[in-house]
Amino acid sequence: MNSHVPVMLDQVIKALGPRDGGIYLDGTFGGGGYASAILDAAHCTLWAIDRDPDAIQRGAALAARFPSRLHLLHGAFGDMMDLLAAAGVTTLDGVVLDLGVSSFQIDDPARGFSFRFDGPLDMRMGKHGTSAADLVNGLTEEALADVLYEFGEERASRRIAHAIVLARAESPIETTSRLAAIIRSVLPPDRSGHDPATRTFQALRIKVNDELGQIGQALRQAADLLSPGGRLVVVAFHSLEDRIVKRFMTEASGRIAGPSRHDPRGLLSRQRPGFRLLTARALRPSTDETLDNPRSRSARLRALERIAPSPAQAERGIP
Ligand SMILES: C[S@@+](CC[C@H](N)C(=O)[O-])C[C@H]1O[C@@H](n2cnc3c(N)ncnc32)[C@H](O)[C@@H]1O
Repeated sequence: MNSHVPVMLDQVIKALGPRDGGIYLDGTFGGGGYASAILDAAHCTLWAIDRDPDAIQRGAALAARFPSRLHLLHGAFGDMMDLLAAAGVTTLDGVVLDLGVSSFQIDDPARGFSFRFDGPLDMRMGKHGTSAADLVNGLTEEALADVLYEFGEERASRRIAHAIVLARAESPIETTSRLAAIIRSVLPPDRSGHDPATRTFQALRIKVNDELGQIGQALRQAADLLSPGGRLVVVAFHSLEDRIVKRFMTEASGRIAGPSRHDPRGLLSRQRPGFRLLTARALRPSTDETLDNPRSRSARLRALERIAPSPAQAERGIP
């Protein structure tokens, strides 16, 4: 069976700074690599969310190692506020998000995330709802091209969408290898050596799982849940994710991305930021890590610390 090597683990733990008695959330439990390091770093309580039922099931062994300190919740991190509230948790000392899919998911042909294996065209992290095959066989040519362009930054989106529509007229596209072959038939490999199917698979995965919408929801909720001194640490793997994280953190810390000195919004938001940016620039993995674990190559870590209570916390008298 495969496993998942946690990315930028030391930097994540350092940025989160777990303390004894603290309450933390790992919004992307995955293989439990971050979770077990957080629980080892301090005598804290950790809530862990994953939308993949397989991840939650695998986590039972770790939860047994840390009785009453690790609590697993099945669901989407975009619903963290409700999931935690139902468990009686309303404030946190830290939140960590390690975006994207785990090696457990990508290396399992049955999950349909990868063009490296033949499998059903699925890509649903939560194992329910609309699958990649539903999109590929059901969207109009124009809508399909828009998805590839928006979420895969695929410049040949129209050409690929057209080839997909021609192919599905013969028979529905049900497998990863058939989709990859259709893309390769109209798009030669680029000079970087990336498979031509890379961007299309990324786009479908993001759309199937509403990954960008989830990130936006999670960042806002995490910020509201953090108590003063609490930290939000996010590891992103591609520019679409990182752009949302960077913008959110920049604005939360009272800066406006690329402001003019004379822009009144910049002056206003600089007055009383509730957060401090801990990473002026995104942290990157070491060269050794990128050699040991190629998956880490595109990782970017950003972190934010709450320095003033939220209006709701101030109302409840939290200093
Ligand atoms: C990169 S892996 C996390 C690996 C983990 N940090 C570790 O060390 O093992 C990402 C995990 O987050 C989960 N995930 C992704 N998006 C999610 C979402 N919106 N809500 C909940 N879980 C999500 C995936 O199912 C996957 O298991």
